[in-house]
Amino acid sequence: MLIRRHREWEIPESHATPETIFLNRRALIGSAAGLAAGSLIGGGARAASEAALYPAPRNDSYVLDRPVTAERFSGDYNNFYEFGMSKTVLPAANALKTSPWTLKIDGLVEKPFEIGVDDLIRKVGLEERLYRHRCVEAWSMAVPWTGFPLSKLVALAKPASGAKYIRFETFMDKAIAPGQRVFYYPWPYVEGLTMPEAGNDLAFVVTGVYGKPLPNQFGAPIRIAVPWKYGFKSAKSIVKVSFTADRPKTFWEGLQSSEYGFWANVNPAVPHPRWSQASERVLGSDQRVPTLIYNGYSEQVAGLYKGMEGERLFV
Ligand code: MTE
Repeated sequence: MLIRRHREWEIPESHATPETIFLNRRALIGSAAGLAAGSLIGGGARAASEAALYPAPRNDSYVLDRPVTAERFSGDYNNFYEFGMSKTVLPAANALKTSPWTLKIDGLVEKPFEIGVDDLIRKVGLEERLYRHRCVEAWSMAVPWTGFPLSKLVALAKPASGAKYIRFETFMDKAIAPGQRVFYYPWPYVEGLTMPEAGNDLAFVVTGVYGKPLPNQFGAPIRIAVPWKYGFKSAKSIVKVSFTADRPKTFWEGLQSSEYGFWANVNPAVPHPRWSQASERVLGSDQRVPTLIYNGYSEQVAGLYKGMEGERLFV
């Protein structure tokens, strides 16, 4: 019989069998019931002027088929490998100083530039959207993100005609991010989209959640949300956005390309090599619900992949 040994960096199957994880988590939450709500908020010091921009007006075009996940569930069950492999990254993530924060725009653009996140927000404005989020580990949540369409950032960047992809890079600072000292990960965290994907209305740059600036564990001060793809496409704490002719090599693809690909569109019919993707555990509830193709956003995004049937669109 073939005994499969885990390599240290693999997401263990147990992360994808949320029954056990979920029950442990509930026990933890139960025993920590007295925990001050404020400790979930995390986040470094934020300028009062920034906080005044929240809550932003909600864009009602984005509706959910399920209740919003309470922050006490989504805010202490996070993937942020820079701060460790456990789901409880909150205390460690608070070491990240998120203000001031500069975003670098480079690659195939009219003129590379840097912009402070506060300036960027003032330039483009903010709105709130209710989005589903489906992790490749088969858990999900529904959250009110605050941010702006990625297409607005693309317009500011003025990409050249040769730009075919957009590449997102997370901060790199081994001194404060213990996960980045683990040598077998291909740091920094990198993700990417095609230009048509980046131009889709759903592709969102996120600066806040639950009506306030992003707490650190969610990827402060700026991340993306690509709700029709597995959650790992939504890179956190981004410092650089580059426009490229070639497809970026992404973090997870670099680590294990047989399990995590570039496209990573949600599809319940295509199992992960080590677990089913047919259903998902909704954070904060006892329910498992069926997973929907493109995480329920088929109408908005299926057209992006016409004629690409030969690609590994769902890994
Ligand atoms: N971005 C960075 N930089 N590092 C990470 O480890 N994890 C990804 C994604 N973005 C990750 C990241 C994964 S696997 C998921 S599911 C989501 O962040 C989790 O987002 P959340 O913690 O806000 O729920």
